[in-house]
Amino acid sequence: MTEKIPHAYVIGYPVKHSRSPQIHRYWLEFYGLAGSYDLAELEPEQLGPFINFLRQAENAGANVTIPYKQTVISHLDAIDEDAQNVGAVNTIYKEAGKLLGTNTDVYGFLTHLSQSVPEWHDDVEEVVIIGAGGAARAVLLSMKKANKINVHIANRTIGKAQNLANEIYARAKPIELSKLNTVLGSADLVINTTSLGMTGQPPLRFDVAVLPGHTIVADIVYSPLKTKLLQQAEDRGLRTVDGLGMLLHQAVRGFELWFGVRPQVTGELRQMVEKSLVSAS
Ligand code: ATR
Repeated sequence: MTEKIPHAYVIGYPVKHSRSPQIHRYWLEFYGLAGSYDLAELEPEQLGPFINFLRQAENAGANVTIPYKQTVISHLDAIDEDAQNVGAVNTIYKEAGKLLGTNTDVYGFLTHLSQSVPEWHDDVEEVVIIGAGGAARAVLLSMKKANKINVHIANRTIGKAQNLANEIYARAKPIELSKLNTVLGSADLVINTTSLGMTGQPPLRFDVAVLPGHTIVADIVYSPLKTKLLQQAEDRGLRTVDGLGMLLHQAVRGFELWFGVRPQVTGELRQMVEKSLVSAS
């Protein structure tokens, strides 16, 4: 009998920009494992059929990215507590013949934040999250898990920020994006979770000068690696946290579930992905 080679995918639309294949293929080679990891760019009507395709024995699972992190849930057999709490799935895997969904973004964000600024927990009381979309959900839950009590959600559409607070963390206070400056003056940690500042998107309008000198500035955008927000924060001497680390750390659990080895996020892996981001920009 020939041994089955597990296949995994990243599904989304668009998905060609994704760095996930590079990360998982690096680990497959590094650990000498048989397996594959490919892009699957899906139109909305292809999502259901593709999830059924994942049920075939040779397929181990998938990562899920924009815009399917929430819509994919109805196609799965069950989702675990992490995915329920975030209200979104970024990783699909199999257990006892069932197709299950989890969410590793909270782990990815908190692990990278702790590695980038080890003292962050002691230094942070006031948090400002910019944005109230899919990525903001995981970041808000991260702050709840870390017992941060003073959290503001600044969003263009205030109703969405209110909904996010209602669903995930009732203590969080919504604020209109246009009034961002009123909360920045006392912010210890600011996190951009919108796509503003990403290559091809408008910049995030942000006055770094308003921030106190000890503020930590994080951006979940990783293309470009150093967004204008991070560059301005760095120029002011503030501590910064980039978006690439979250991507690398969220990938760990998926690889472990599909291929059976818990991989390391090494400097070599990071440099490889950084290089490809620089050459693409
Ligand atoms: P994702 O799943 O990647 O988080 P999303 O759910 O579409 O994407 O959320 C995008 C976030 O960026 C939202 O907070 C959105 O604000 P609205 O809720 O008001 O739509 C924010 N965003 C996107 N483009 C923006 C813009 N030009 N100005 C201000 N905010 C913007």
